[in-house]
Amino acid sequence: MRYFIEDLHKFVGETVELKGWVYNTRGSKKIKFLLLRDGTGICQCIFFQGDCDEQAFENFTSLNQEACVKVTGVVKEEPRSPGGYELSARSFEILSDSIDYPITPKEHGVDFLMNHRHLWLRSKKQHAAIRVRSEIIAAIRSFFDGRGFTCTDAPIFTPNACEGTSTLFSTQYFDDKAFLSQSGQLYMEATAAAFGKVYCFGPTFRAEKSKTRRHLIEFWMVEPEVAFNDLYDNMELAEQFVEYIVQRVLTNRQQELKALERDTSKLECIKAPFPRLHYKEATEIILKENKEFVVGDDFGGTDETIISSQFDRPVFVHHFPTAIKAFYMKEEPEDKTYSLSCDLLATEGYGEIIGGGQREDNLEILEKKIKEHDLNMEDFSWYRDLRKYGSFPHAGFGLGIERTVAWICGLPHVRETIPFPRLYGRLHP
Ligand code: 4AD
Ligand code: MG
Repeated sequence: MRYFIEDLHKFVGETVELKGWVYNTRGSKKIKFLLLRDGTGICQCIFFQGDCDEQAFENFTSLNQEACVKVTGVVKEEPRSPGGYELSARSFEILSDSIDYPITPKEHGVDFLMNHRHLWLRSKKQHAAIRVRSEIIAAIRSFFDGRGFTCTDAPIFTPNACEGTSTLFSTQYFDDKAFLSQSGQLYMEATAAAFGKVYCFGPTFRAEKSKTRRHLIEFWMVEPEVAFNDLYDNMELAEQFVEYIVQRVLTNRQQELKALERDTSKLECIKAPFPRLHYKEATEIILKENKEFVVGDDFGGTDETIISSQFDRPVFVHHFPTAIKAFYMKEEPEDKTYSLSCDLLATEGYGEIIGGGQREDNLEILEKKIKEHDLNMEDFSWYRDLRKYGSFPHAGFGLGIERTVAWICGLPHVRETIPFPRLYGRLHP
């Protein structure tokens, strides 16, 4: 039988064998403590002199940090122990040693830790953040799967630019040239006509030569698209979705949030509906604090923080100027200088986590926009077909997973929100 630390509550009073790694050790003459981690939790194993195997007590000092071990003992309830249970240990066996483990309890610089990311993932906070990420991914799938959406994942090799040509990674595709996908959106517009409500979830790539705490080169995005939704339906879907994710993490990942020292009161109030600001209203708020902001421009990180600091829940900004948005955004019929776009800004200065809007469904206008954006008409022939054969109003959005994980975990940088981050200037490990 295999025993896992997270299941110890089922085996109180029984003798179990745990396999894992040495997280920490300490001890005195008569009693020794081993903190054992197995990935599912951390268990305190106590060796009492006279009570445990004599050899085990004598050899205790040979336990090195991160050595792989097998420990046998009796499960006891102990509220003061991490996880609420401990092991009254009888014996241990070193399955494989770990000499001079590089990440010690002392402080290390970020560069050192990033170079050792393959080991750093074993540390408590990193482990907690990735568990929260995993919960968020499960929440994403269950939200859409439970609402009649069909998962229609988009290709990663693509012939088209979706989010502008300046951040494309290009690669050889036999005799052709291909790009790594910046977004699955255009494909979701096609599958929305086939399935009505769809989403894709996968890695996306942007060759952004910027080192900020919000940008990754490779990041994961979930992108729903719904036939016959307009801008307002889209915001409603997005706020229900974000509320669902946050509340589910709060329900299922309390221990991890505690390890991350997250102030969860700031998450408990994340409930729909979220406030909505027209771009013009948002710029008035920004101008009170940032006099240099130019109306008509996109927001910088500090501008987003100025807006979000006014609210205790995420805030939508909609109707961005058409001139600063992608070619596929539908123009506001009442005033074409604004688009039916929306971004969702997270609380506490975490910035944009969602970008989306209603799509241009008129063929003539779409073709005009493709030309204005200097894109190749031929590349978009399949996409234009969607406007030729039963064009339909539709809207969707993309939520960036890493920014969402950073926000929910309260982490200062997206590099800790994905197991192996790809950053500008970092490809290893
Ligand atoms: O606002 P973006 O560029 O929107 C799109 O790609 C749309 N095509 C999505 C759609 O409507 N289906 O990106 C969406 C989200 C951002 O709000 C942000 O959370 C995340 O993706 N994102 C990044 N995350 C990490 N690193 C980067 N370089 C990111 N670029 C965008
Ligand atoms: Mg955006």
